[in-house]
Amino acid sequence: MENVLLEKQGHVSIITINREKALNALSTAVLNDLEEAVNTVEADKDTYCVIITGAGNKSFVAGADIAEMKDKTVEEAAEYGAYGNKIFRQIETLHCPVIAAVNGFALGGGCELSMACDIRIAAENAVFGQPEVGLGITPGFGGTQRLARLVPAGIAKEMIFTARNIKADKALTIGLVNAVVPQEELMATALKMANGICKNAPIAVAQAKKAINAGLQTDMDSAIAIEVKDFSDCFATEDQTYGMECFVNKVKEKEFKN
Ligand code: CAA
Repeated sequence: MENVLLEKQGHVSIITINREKALNALSTAVLNDLEEAVNTVEADKDTYCVIITGAGNKSFVAGADIAEMKDKTVEEAAEYGAYGNKIFRQIETLHCPVIAAVNGFALGGGCELSMACDIRIAAENAVFGQPEVGLGITPGFGGTQRLARLVPAGIAKEMIFTARNIKADKALTIGLVNAVVPQEELMATALKMANGICKNAPIAVAQAKKAINAGLQTDMDSAIAIEVKDFSDCFATEDQTYGMECFVNKVKEKEFKN
């Protein structure tokens, strides 16, 4: 793949959007490669955590490719929007947690890509925004939906209607990101968190992700029923037997086998 790099460190897969000269803007070619990378990770159950980042120091992803988009018809735009959304939803529902390591611009489709991830860690130079209405369009890869679910709806509406970007510290204040770190510490911080996740029982982590995502889309009674099912299903796993035996036998150094 030319536009997306995929590497693995232990149980952590790292996806890097690699189109630095265009600030990692999401052309169709980039989306095709991203889809291939996500398909590969999805098929790899030995991946317990994923990190998505952008090549270079300046930009995570500066959005969908405006030059490529500008002459699209309504039908072509619908196809493009559905394609980006399909990949982002696939990221959101991957079997394991996904961390966005946001280095620089996360605008439009870039902000949307970060929001399809479970956790966002930002470098101090990160800039988030949904500038689409300034281009005569709405956000098209999930921004109107995920931003309003991640931060208070009024803040999401302000960001989308004004098209004004926010810096990392403001993103932290509104809860859009989990942490802000110096740029040179970004990948180390993301990897440390990813490796911390990998130390836990992978099936339990996957079940917890599934329960949180499903529960957010339904009423509390149905959500609790989802939790009860996911919780009890864990009792059919070796990880549950092993994890609890380690506790009662005071074993400190655990290694889950999956
Ligand atoms: N699409 C295509 N090319 C892009 C791009 C984008 N979204 N963002 C940056 N580039 C290209 C520029 O055209 C430029 O290419 P050339 O060197 O060939 O001229 C190169 O990347 C470097 O960009 P700049 O010279 O503009 O760099 P800068 O530091 O002056 O500005 C920036 C950086 C503020 C991020 C600016 O590039 C910018 O505003 N980019 C567009 C951001 C944007 O509007 N994103 C939303 C896109 S729409 C969308 O994403 C819809 C959706 O929801 C699906």
